[in-house]
Amino acid sequence: MTKQANEEVPDAGGDLAGRHIVLGLSGGIACYKAAELCRSLIKQGASVQVVMTEAAEQFITAVTLQALSGRPVYTSQWDSREANNMAHINLSREADAILVAPCSADFMAKLLHGRADDLLSLMCLARPIDKVPLLIAPAMNREMWAHPATQRNMAQLSSDGATILGVGSGFQACGETGDGRMLEPPELLEDIIAFFTPKVLAGQHVLVTAGPTYEAIDPVRGITNLSSGKMGFAVARAAREAGAQVTLVAGPVSLSTPRGVTRIDVKSAQNMLEAVMQQAPAATVFVATAAVADWRPASSAERKIKKDGSGQAPQLAFTENPDILATLAQSPRGLSGALFCVGFAAESHDLKDNAQAKRRRKGVPLLVGNIGPATFGRDDNALLLLDAQGSRELARASKLSLARQLVAEIASRIKRAG
Ligand code: C5P
Repeated sequence: MTKQANEEVPDAGGDLAGRHIVLGLSGGIACYKAAELCRSLIKQGASVQVVMTEAAEQFITAVTLQALSGRPVYTSQWDSREANNMAHINLSREADAILVAPCSADFMAKLLHGRADDLLSLMCLARPIDKVPLLIAPAMNREMWAHPATQRNMAQLSSDGATILGVGSGFQACGETGDGRMLEPPELLEDIIAFFTPKVLAGQHVLVTAGPTYEAIDPVRGITNLSSGKMGFAVARAAREAGAQVTLVAGPVSLSTPRGVTRIDVKSAQNMLEAVMQQAPAATVFVATAAVADWRPASSAERKIKKDGSGQAPQLAFTENPDILATLAQSPRGLSGALFCVGFAAESHDLKDNAQAKRRRKGVPLLVGNIGPATFGRDDNALLLLDAQGSRELARASKLSLARQLVAEIASRIKRAG
């Protein structure tokens, strides 16, 4: 099977495997995104039951959603396919969550008042509130979103126990620009996966460094390395899924920021150190995945260094960069364990010995070893966890899967220490 064909097959071991989600569509142009969302949920292993309001049917057909979900769509509370004629009870009892996407301003107002004059609102009201969470992806014009009534409704729905997934910002179908767009399907998917993840890092503040650094030689050239930042971004995402507040200090990479993560972009090792030192007092966990340049040019030329025709290469002098990880690990909070420090080591050979030596040198309780050339730029990796007692292998898997295993390991160590 080709890779592409493989990606089309629902992932039985996907992040939503075994979850049954009722996807409710209310009336709004963002219904076109719900088709993609439905498909994404299924690709992650969920089963999806679509329920549409009459207004939603003005924007997209039930045929499309039936084809994508592989199940007949429900649109009416009088649907005679249900033997007891109680679709609102039957469908809501089997759901792990009801996700209303798009949720129009009108539908939010309806939910707020507990109105139940169509199947979707009836189901939301009839659901066992402590067993079937309600997730809302609002979608509306920016003025409607900013209106005090909508903001009030959102706050009240949230205090009634619903989870509001937020809105995107940008160009809207109405031609205006602002807040209120429905989040994109990949963003919603990330939020839904996070929603179902056990919150083993609740109350923790995780600071992560990721990517390469760039050390300028002159305004147009510099020294960098092949780190893609993928491992660090995966760690940031996994920590956020696990309920931590996450700050990601990223060198120059072109990756999108994981949902719910605060990102600080930096260039050089010195910039990275400054950003990390500013954030560290609030952090309880520091994960240094960045491939920080060991050396930087002693000075960066103000103008481009030109060839002068002599055939002589310019003489560059280098200065050692600060070791960010060692600085934090040796700080009073690092030494006391108030800041749990985790380092990474990219080696080319003798991984266990080299990484263990590095762990001792840096003074960190946990170090993650990997083979540099076998990980740079790839979406998968294999890790070796090393502590004072020994080592444990995490078999080759996606970087996100490994990051989740690492986060679970960090959480259990913090718990034991606390
Ligand atoms: O010494 P080496 O670069 O191999 O150490 C790797 C570990 O140390 C990684 O966790 C990396 O993020 C961190 N590091 C750092 N500051 C440096 C060099 C490495 O934080 N200047």
